Amino acid sequence: MALFILICFFLVSSSLPLPYSAAAVETNDFQPEVYNPKLPPRALTSSKKFEGSSDLVHLRYHMGPVLSSPINIYIIWYGKWAQPQKLLIKDFLLSISASHRAAASPSVAEWWRTVSLYTDQTGANVSRSVLIAGEYADQRYSHGAQLTRLSIQQVIANAVRVAPFPVDHKNGIYLILTSEDVAVQDFCRAVCGFHYFTFPSMVGYTLPYAWVGNSGKQCPDVCAYPFAVPAYMTGGGPSALSPPNRDVGIDGMISVIGHELAELSSNPLVNAWYAGEDPTAPTEIGDLCEGLYGTGGGGGYIGQVMRDREGRTFNLNGRRKRKFLVQWIWNPTLKACAGPNALD
Ligand SMILES: *[C@@H]1O[C@H](CO)[C@@H](O)[C@H](O)[C@H]1NC(C)=O
Repeated sequence: MALFILICFFLVSSSLPLPYSAAAVETNDFQPEVYNPKLPPRALTSSKKFEGSSDLVHLRYHMGPVLSSPINIYIIWYGKWAQPQKLLIKDFLLSISASHRAAASPSVAEWWRTVSLYTDQTGANVSRSVLIAGEYADQRYSHGAQLTRLSIQQVIANAVRVAPFPVDHKNGIYLILTSEDVAVQDFCRAVCGFHYFTFPSMVGYTLPYAWVGNSGKQCPDVCAYPFAVPAYMTGGGPSALSPPNRDVGIDGMISVIGHELAELSSNPLVNAWYAGEDPTAPTEIGDLCEGLYGTGGGGGYIGQVMRDREGRTFNLNGRRKRKFLVQWIWNPTLKACAGPNALD
């Protein structure tokens, strides 16, 4: 469903008190290998390559739709956004569709291929065509600088009312991105992003949407890991990696956006692809691979990724020679986390 930092910690350490708090992190109960705040559940990390774990993952199809028609993304820029930040995020989104001017392998479009392996009951795959169909800048913070899950729906309702983009039930997904000065319910404490669908009573329609926040100021060590690392890790632990586009907050957001889009596309109404018996807390195709970016990842290690001449870390190429570091996705055929930068 979302980047549930909370759940990861509970699975690795049942002694953690509820709720996960800053104080809990400072205790010395953690083993070094559980330090990664985006660590997948221990059950999935026992094997370096994860295939030993596949028996434990019961990802099931629940008969609902997937996004099989070309996907129209409507972006709501909430708060204060700089043009270079917007361009970077849009370059990532526009790199998903394989085009004639394809980026070098391993590419974002190849990464999305894993997502397109998910089908609905008619056999239709998640679409490999993703485009930006509209944008709306809510730069006056229409619902304030502190949003709740419900007020996020009001932001969408407001946007479809005033923005030059339509109510697109069939192919649309609404992506709300909040700037670094906007606080969101559960942001940093439990989630870095989430996806759901709007309620007809709030918005007038059922529209799949995702929210992702810029954690650059509020909690980069949680939501922009591994470009920032928690203070308790310094001294013996891994040091922060250099972000591919020199923007810790936005580079961190991009992996979360990738995670949420993959889940939204394979489970838009939360009745298609997920693991676990509880639809209110589903484990989805991004959750299963959280914190994993390359071969050999797991147990707090992100896996083998690339570095450019300036030492910036990445695992995918995008349009206009952009580079991104994006987490892997659960592959239903391999029954393992997979990405195009795999070494085997
Ligand atoms: C559609 O999904 C099926 C099942 O995962 C897969 O075998 C097939 O290659 C996919 N087709 C496309 C066009 O991605």
